[in-house]
Amino acid sequence: MSERHRLVVGNWKMHETAGQAENLARAVLAALPPLDARAHSEVVLAPPFTALAAVHAVVADSVVALGAQNMHWGESGAYTGEISAPMLLDLGVRYVILGHSERRRYFHESDEEINRKVRAALSHGLMPIVAVGETADERDTGMTDARVVAQTSAALDGVEPANLARLALAYEPVWAIGTGRNCPPAEADRVMGCIRGTLPGLEHTRILYGGSVTPANFASYLACENCDGGLIGGASLDANAFVQLAILALAA
Ligand code: 13P
Repeated sequence: MSERHRLVVGNWKMHETAGQAENLARAVLAALPPLDARAHSEVVLAPPFTALAAVHAVVADSVVALGAQNMHWGESGAYTGEISAPMLLDLGVRYVILGHSERRRYFHESDEEINRKVRAALSHGLMPIVAVGETADERDTGMTDARVVAQTSAALDGVEPANLARLALAYEPVWAIGTGRNCPPAEADRVMGCIRGTLPGLEHTRILYGGSVTPANFASYLACENCDGGLIGGASLDANAFVQLAILALAA
């Protein structure tokens, strides 16, 4: 067993208005059993920016922490439409998902931009959750390991070794996201081992699996040597399913 504490993150993506998000967060809290403080496991909800304040009002003073889905690397400035780390901190945000494949694919985020965001988040005391993963084409052409290692080393370039335990990585094969085709756990564990081997110091970094996680398959990931939790999309929009995932992670 590793010393790494489990982490379960609900990425609500572009779902839920502020009012809907508040109700969903309430439903999650109501169904979550009291967490054992000694377990130090963490449960994070990452609603859209527009619902951060509403969800914070629900989860403040609870065991559930608040996450954002993206941020800009600057502190402030002429970046129309962007949100900075101090703005997130001001809303009670503690975690920020960076480099999600949907950001890379639809918004053309480069490895270099993701690296700037990771370093900015760390310097402001936010905990980055950095997503990496191969496309179906990359997997079919034998590029999986090279791709995730390249994404990981680019995202973490210049990060102080002492900060590696303050961030989490998420292995999300692009072809497994929202498809119902989850990566077989043994293969996910192998790739997460590859990610962990990218740099010295990553043995203390939490690595999450993401991609069609459900209450039926999550325990098989948690049983893997290299898996420290989950980054959950669709199932996090169902309070009962998400709480089942959190309970599995706490028990593992
Ligand atoms: P699904 O759980 O819906 O496959 O989404 C995974 C994901 O992208 C989480 O960030």
